Amino acid sequence: MASFCLHLAAAALFLVTTLSLISPSNSATCTSQTFTNNRPYSFCNDLPSLNSYLHWTYDQAKSTLSIAFIAPPARPNGWVSWAINPTSTGMVGSQALVAFRDAKGAMTVKTYNITAYGPLTESKVWYNVQESSAEFSGGVIRLFATVVLPQQGKTTVNHVWQVGPSVTAGIPAKHDFQPANLNAKGSLDLLRGQSTAAVGGNSRTKRRNVHGILNVVSWGIMFPVGIIIARYVRTFPSADPVWFYLHVSCQVSAYSIGVAGWGTGLKLGSESKAVTYSGHRNIGISLFALATVQIFALLLRPNKDHKYRFYWNIYHHGLGYVILVLGIINVFKGFNILQPEHKWRHAYIIVIAVLGGIAVFLEAITWVIVLRRKKSDKSTKPYDGYNNGHGRQEHLAP
Ligand code: HEM
Ligand SMILES: *[C@@H]1O[C@H](CO)[C@@H](O)[C@H](O)[C@H]1NC(C)=O
Repeated sequence: MASFCLHLAAAALFLVTTLSLISPSNSATCTSQTFTNNRPYSFCNDLPSLNSYLHWTYDQAKSTLSIAFIAPPARPNGWVSWAINPTSTGMVGSQALVAFRDAKGAMTVKTYNITAYGPLTESKVWYNVQESSAEFSGGVIRLFATVVLPQQGKTTVNHVWQVGPSVTAGIPAKHDFQPANLNAKGSLDLLRGQSTAAVGGNSRTKRRNVHGILNVVSWGIMFPVGIIIARYVRTFPSADPVWFYLHVSCQVSAYSIGVAGWGTGLKLGSESKAVTYSGHRNIGISLFALATVQIFALLLRPNKDHKYRFYWNIYHHGLGYVILVLGIINVFKGFNILQPEHKWRHAYIIVIAVLGGIAVFLEAITWVIVLRRKKSDKSTKPYDGYNNGHGRQEHLAP
């Protein structure tokens, strides 16, 4: 019984790992888009970062590629870009189409042969642009282009995409260097409709995902479950002391997984050259500190009817709720940094909503039970000893 939470943890970790194995980031899913001019495309792909979408048709005989690239610019007056890199992977070497609003206020598409990590200069590119246009509505830029690829028969290309915040004097300004920006590259099978994340050297991405999974399971799911157990299961006198062992085993295993996740986070943070996510980092460090105090609190717990137990309860419950809230906030901050496919955020929201629903339901039941018990116990103590006679409020709230 006390291993309930270990099982829960194992099941959650197993589920997440299998899910991420059977649906790697090269999913060929695509969210269909509507185009005002009703253009049909043979393939589409939800690109794995920057909330971008690519639709395309490739005519192998003519070597023409028609694309619609849809992405939200980093700011309303920013730019979006889609590129093929015929010689390498990543930004340098890319032959880019960039869409933005020009000085006259019209949406325009320009081409850039990107030769270095530096300012762009407009130029001819590797492919020939037959037509191009762009539109901006609903917060996204749609970049349309038909290009002729010079290399017939090359049907798998390295592609790169990006979004930027502004355009100064006709020149697109540099983009952010967040993971989502740096991961905006992959290879694209023009005939099979598959887009895969960049090959090789992505152990960092993998470790980011491990960090995410460990912390979501621990701070985002197991700690809340442990708190629900502590708050509701013990209403039932028959569940004493089982609830306590359940609670302790949940929180101790949540803590172990959480410390592992925290460690991977520190490692990732120390490796990150340019960017620090101070909010996420500070909350993570506070969570570790608070949870460590909580675990030690277990050892310093005064006896049930010691006069300090009342204060210990206040402190232990208070800290517990702070960890609950900070943990969930930090999971969402992590989602914002990692920018995984939308389904992961949605899945977590569902889990939290279900836990929240269970909590509300149990809260109602608890009140009914407690009120009933109060009625039948009028003559005796507020209620039966297991709560030190402190009354309902101290029993539930901090
Ligand atoms: C506007 C001027 C631009 C500047 C100054 C710029 C600068 C940079 C720099 C310095 C990095 C390396 C960051 C790091 O590794 O720490 C980088 C990466 C990247 N850039 Fe740009 N960039 C620009 C435009 C673009 C455009 C138009 C695209 C789209 C095709 C793009 C796509 C990328 C991608 C995908 C990466 C990550 C992969 C890689 O390192 O090659 N950039 N950029
Ligand atoms: C792009 O620039 C590089 C470096 O200057 C040059 O070698 C290459 O030929 C250029 N590509 C095109 C298509 O102009």
